[in-house]
Amino acid sequence: MNMSDTASGSHLKPRILTGDTPTGPLHLGHWLGSVKRRVELQDTHDCFIIIANMHAFTTNAEQSDQIRANVIEIVRDYLAMGLDPKRSTIFVQSEVPAIAELTFLFAMLLPFNRVMRNPTLKDEIKVKDLGETYSFGFPLYAVGQTADILAFRPVSVPVGEDQVPHLELTREVARRFNQVYCNVSDQAEDDEHVDLGGIFHVPIADVGKVGRLVGIDGTNKMSKSLNNAIFISDTEKQVKKKVNKIYTGRQSPTEPGDPNNVLFEYADHFIEDADRVAELRDRYARGDDIGDGHIKAEIAEGINRLLEPMRERRRQYEESEDLVIDILKDGCARANAVAEVTLEMVKDATHLSLSPRSLSYT
Ligand code: TRP
Repeated sequence: MNMSDTASGSHLKPRILTGDTPTGPLHLGHWLGSVKRRVELQDTHDCFIIIANMHAFTTNAEQSDQIRANVIEIVRDYLAMGLDPKRSTIFVQSEVPAIAELTFLFAMLLPFNRVMRNPTLKDEIKVKDLGETYSFGFPLYAVGQTADILAFRPVSVPVGEDQVPHLELTREVARRFNQVYCNVSDQAEDDEHVDLGGIFHVPIADVGKVGRLVGIDGTNKMSKSLNNAIFISDTEKQVKKKVNKIYTGRQSPTEPGDPNNVLFEYADHFIEDADRVAELRDRYARGDDIGDGHIKAEIAEGINRLLEPMRERRRQYEESEDLVIDILKDGCARANAVAEVTLEMVKDATHLSLSPRSLSYT
């Protein structure tokens, strides 16, 4: 295997890949649902983080300038939250040509109807009201995601619950490729594929504990488009104002309340002292002179304590775009080093190789 196959000094750590579609600024749901875990994994894993900008074109092809702006902003949010570009490889999907090439090939290994059965796609068609008018590229993105992942031959993919169908598709491609082109038996266990000569690990979906954070409307998943999100880049004042909007319907501080509500979901996540939360919960249930406003104030304080160091870190990357671009260029170079090796292995296995090529990404 080529020496450039791993980021410097990280060749002993198992490789993982995950990422996001750049559709807007990141919020607390992203932090709890995925980025927090990535920050922890940096110590033990060689982390590759893909910013899937081509996926944003599936439904927003006309707004390519906005997609570019979102790419820059998402990197600022990542860095603010503590992803360290020395330990994690943050890169842009469209700058890694091997991904597009693998997408074409993998599309041949998947029955069309199998792709269209993907529940995450079906859900998106419904939620985004795409009807029958979606682009050809829309279902293709699910195939593309299998290439995003397999281009890096990761052992696992840390994702939220909604991405599991995409991982299932990816696992099918990995198995099928190894069976068809690497002589791996169709009786082989998933974890044996590489030992038996397969190019790809059958990657595990590492689903985070926090499924979805409810938005400040108390009903829907936190999401920019639903206008119920607290963003990583929100100011202290904005956080206070948003938390104050949380509505429980409780009338007075002496009315016994049901603490299985949105307020206490936030309290559990953002008030660090668990004993304090237990005390608040108890008083709330008894109506012991504790108003919603008081609990909101403590929640806002907790969120601001979490966000303050992030704001601080973010500031240094807000001054110039060049800093962010440099980090992405470095990430893209490292990502291409790995993906090109994968492509070479794939071309060998599929008899597509004619002459070696070298991509210069500087
Ligand atoms: N589809 C993912 C999302 O919308 C983003 C994504 C693209 C991704 N490629 C990936 C996630 C590869 C994990 C692995 O959040």
